[in-house]
Amino acid sequence: MKSSVCVTGGAGYVGSQTVWALRDRGVPVVVYDNLSTGHREHLPPDVPVVVGDVRDEAALQNCFAKHKVRAVVHCAAVALVGESMRAPSMYWSINVGGTAALTGAAMACGVKAIVFSSSAAVYGEALQIPINERHPKEPINPYGRSKHVAEQVLEDARAAGGPAWIAFRYFNAAGGDSKGRTGEDHEPETHLIPNILKVAQSMKQGGVVSPVKLFGGDYPTEDGTCERDYIHTEDLAEAHIRGVEYLLAGGQSGAFNLGTGQGRSLLAMVRAARTVTGVDIPYQITARRPGDPAQLVADADLAWQELGWRAKNSSLRHILDTAWRWMQRGDGA
Ligand SMILES: NC(=O)c1ccc[n+]([C@@H]2O[C@H](COP(=O)([O-])OP(=O)(O)OC[C@H]3O[C@@H](n4cnc5c(N)ncnc54)[C@H](O)[C@@H]3O)[C@@H](O)[C@H]2O)c1
Repeated sequence: MKSSVCVTGGAGYVGSQTVWALRDRGVPVVVYDNLSTGHREHLPPDVPVVVGDVRDEAALQNCFAKHKVRAVVHCAAVALVGESMRAPSMYWSINVGGTAALTGAAMACGVKAIVFSSSAAVYGEALQIPINERHPKEPINPYGRSKHVAEQVLEDARAAGGPAWIAFRYFNAAGGDSKGRTGEDHEPETHLIPNILKVAQSMKQGGVVSPVKLFGGDYPTEDGTCERDYIHTEDLAEAHIRGVEYLLAGGQSGAFNLGTGQGRSLLAMVRAARTVTGVDIPYQITARRPGDPAQLVADADLAWQELGWRAKNSSLRHILDTAWRWMQRGDGA
């Protein structure tokens, strides 16, 4: 049996796209997921899924040994900022404790590499734009803090002879699979794009809709709404594959930003979504939401220099086209 790559949280939004990309290249994959927010039906039917908790070190060891796992892409996490403020201990338990259990199992089983889904949330308030990896790490919520500490868990394990690691700090993951095989499917959905598209879909179906809420219209940006850096999940998946290859070839452990380097305003997203859907999506600008910085934009040059990776599939058009197609699956679209 060939060695395989294990994707924890592989049934989730980013994880499932990575699983499809690995499988498209013929790399043997196993998914390890407790299916709390993930969906087995978004995965290739022939990929084995081990249902388990990422904090269960013994179950992880069984999975790694049974599937001859050489590298892990570690996406399993709880990932809602608001929820992390209401239930911080769950965030420490799953995001930090889960990463600790994972490194323990990886060390016991001789896993060589871990590529970790970190987040731009480790930086906190942006002191300069674009944000590079040397920017101070002062996360402003338990979610961001849990990701920051999880990076240090990987670093400590490496110092003790554990796997080489990469922490990919994603900015805003967006879009759906170009072939319509997977996409965003969260309940509740807190991300802007699916929420804009849901309004369009309801309008198409003749439903009563509330306008999309855009928090804050008085930011020091071009149109007054916040700017974010949206990166397509296909670009994220490609980065993960390169990250695994880089580490297995002896590349140095470290953190890399993943983004496009371009900020898109909330209003620009609504306008682009109107064009893609053909629906005059209504919006309402409300008061600012506490903790929302004006701009979050990545400097992703390091990933280009070290991994030869840069965003290729993250045009607004492609992001919205693929997300819209995914949302309309089952509607005969
Ligand atoms: N979506 C984004 O914009 C974004 C941005 C930055 C970072 N991230 C990070 O990327 C990763 C994936 O995010 P996503 O948007 O795909 O989230 P998601 O919720 O769609 O996927 C998370 C997956 O982890 C699984 N999971 C959760 N708790 C688990 C546990 N205790 N044991 C085993 N499996 C568990 C879920 O079932 C799910 O399949 C997360 O680590 C997240 O923090 C996401």
